[in-house]
Amino acid sequence: MNGGRLKATIKRQSNRQFLTMPKEKHAYQCQSCGARHSKWAGQCGACGEWNSLLEALPVPVAKDDRYGGYAGNEDSAILSAAEVTVQETSHEATGIRELDRVLGGGLVAGSVVLLGGDPGIGKSTLLLQVLTRLHDSAGAAFLYVTGEESLEQVILRAQRLGLATDELRLLAETRVEQILALAQREKPRVMVIDSIQTIYTEALGSAPGGVAQVRESTARLVRFAKQTGTVLFLAGHVTKEGALAGPRVLEHMVDTVLYFESEASSRFRVIRAVKNRFGAVNELGIFAMTEKGLREVENPSEIMLVSDGVETAGSVIMATRQGTRPLLVEVQALVDDSALGNPRRVTVGLEQKRLAMLLAVLSRHGGVASLHQDVFVNVVGGVRIGETAADLPVVLAVLSSLRDRPVSRKLLSFGEVGLAGEIRPVPYGEERLREAAKHGFQRAVIPRGNAPRRAIKGLEIIPVTRLHEAVAAI
Ligand code: TYD
Ligand code: MG
Repeated sequence: MNGGRLKATIKRQSNRQFLTMPKEKHAYQCQSCGARHSKWAGQCGACGEWNSLLEALPVPVAKDDRYGGYAGNEDSAILSAAEVTVQETSHEATGIRELDRVLGGGLVAGSVVLLGGDPGIGKSTLLLQVLTRLHDSAGAAFLYVTGEESLEQVILRAQRLGLATDELRLLAETRVEQILALAQREKPRVMVIDSIQTIYTEALGSAPGGVAQVRESTARLVRFAKQTGTVLFLAGHVTKEGALAGPRVLEHMVDTVLYFESEASSRFRVIRAVKNRFGAVNELGIFAMTEKGLREVENPSEIMLVSDGVETAGSVIMATRQGTRPLLVEVQALVDDSALGNPRRVTVGLEQKRLAMLLAVLSRHGGVASLHQDVFVNVVGGVRIGETAADLPVVLAVLSSLRDRPVSRKLLSFGEVGLAGEIRPVPYGEERLREAAKHGFQRAVIPRGNAPRRAIKGLEIIPVTRLHEAVAAI
């Protein structure tokens, strides 16, 4: 090798580093190992990972970019814990109580909230409601940035919903640089970006909606929110897969992540706080859909249990706990002879694997086999239940359907079922029972470990420790 030429190349390269960074140099970065490549490829040459190369900004980040640098870079200092001044985060209520609940009390200055959900579920409607609602109370500026619909469409929808639009400040724009420049001047207290997938930065050459664009645009918006104390709402579509270019990649960048979790066909809209730096996670906000937009539901347990009063087989009411409140929901099961060699196990609102496990436990420890039956389980009202307290109600509902024997609508249940057929206690047992008593339930089949120390008025407790006891109890 020619030593002189090599040296010259090294010199040239190192010089280049300190001068300007050419834009197209190392424009792709492996999301797995971090290696940078100048060309896109299906496989990372450094670590061998497939489909992991994403467009990245050239390093270092340009100095003159206002929002490109890291916030507070200049005056950062190391402090001892005692020196840190702790300020109570103050929540400002929006007036929409169920929304305030999932936000952890209301809006927090400088916070960024991601509102995700399927297209058409009601993201734009809710955000528009929030902005026009806030207008009623304070005179400050609120900015609605639409990248999806025209200004006319936004106004028409607001009028249809009967919202006061007179003071609504609107912007139809998709370039993040322009949005931030205008917002800098307008100084809104609350800004809505609808939707984040339409926003792009001119610093990247790729099309809007891609992971790199969405992530980089969000990073700039987040920095703006933190520096100015603006409350920022980002609407984001979730694709069926939920992963690609969807809001999922943004979850770690924002303070609060809210998802619409009900089906588009449901009468209700359930919003869950999946992440919240300012409040409890898994908190649910429950709304009813109306022509006038989303209306908060005063007493969710009552709404979830509406029925025609007829007791039908396969239906059991459970007390679940979502976030910080108990909620009564109906679990339905349908067990029917299967024409398939491999019978179906289908769940809506529950984990499918859990159902398969419960059926195995029921067969082994309850003596009830469902080998040749299709089993469908559904949680009424569109709530998704992730906690194990649903185990016992699911088992009872399956039994009830299998034997075609209705369970009383005054009977309540909750509890975890273990693989050995044992019934395990779940957290907040007493609180669940009180909610049930409040709604007139008379009997409760629950884990022995959850039996309250003092009797609850009007509620007969049937404590169980093994699955076969529960089977006998109904
Ligand atoms: P929209 O807010 O546009 O959904 P997204 O922004 O999530 O895609 O809502 C879809 C349509 O449903 C819209 O035309 C308004 C209507 N809608 C109501 O009429 N009432 C409601 O309570 C909600 C949530 C929506
Ligand atoms: Mg929308």
